[in-house]
Amino acid sequence: MKAFVAVAVAAGLLSAAPAFASADLAKAKNCMACHSVAQKLVGPSYKDIAAKYAGNKDAAAMLAAKIQKGGVGTWGQIPMPANPQVNDAEAKTLADWVLSQK
Ligand code: HEC
Repeated sequence: MKAFVAVAVAAGLLSAAPAFASADLAKAKNCMACHSVAQKLVGPSYKDIAAKYAGNKDAAAMLAAKIQKGGVGTWGQIPMPANPQVNDAEAKTLADWVLSQK
């Protein structure tokens, strides 16, 4: 029984995304180098992003794709580089988390 619990815990840690709180995931993936929740840095604040897309039900999927591929022109002339360290599930988690900032 003890061994079973240890294996289950280890498996949980290896499956990455769900083991992280989203804020920790954003830190681990280096998002906070250019973004903060409430203040514009290199990129827009997550609160500004959430406000811009409030009520837009396609926003999560669009932002998840942009988080992975990067892009420019929505907020200004500074580009967001691609983030290849972020997988599909993590991009979705991060997009949902950004959109939940108010
Ligand atoms: C090197 C700096 C940099 C890093 C690192 C970075 N971003 Fe960005 N991000 C930007 C900039 C600049 C923009 C504005 C791009 C634009 O105007 O289209 C942006 C825009 C965004 C947007 C809004 C996109 C839109 O179309 O409205 C989201 C969401 C976002 N970033 C999330 C993230 C997440 C999550 C990470 C971590 C995986 C991350 N960013 C890492 C600079 C960065």
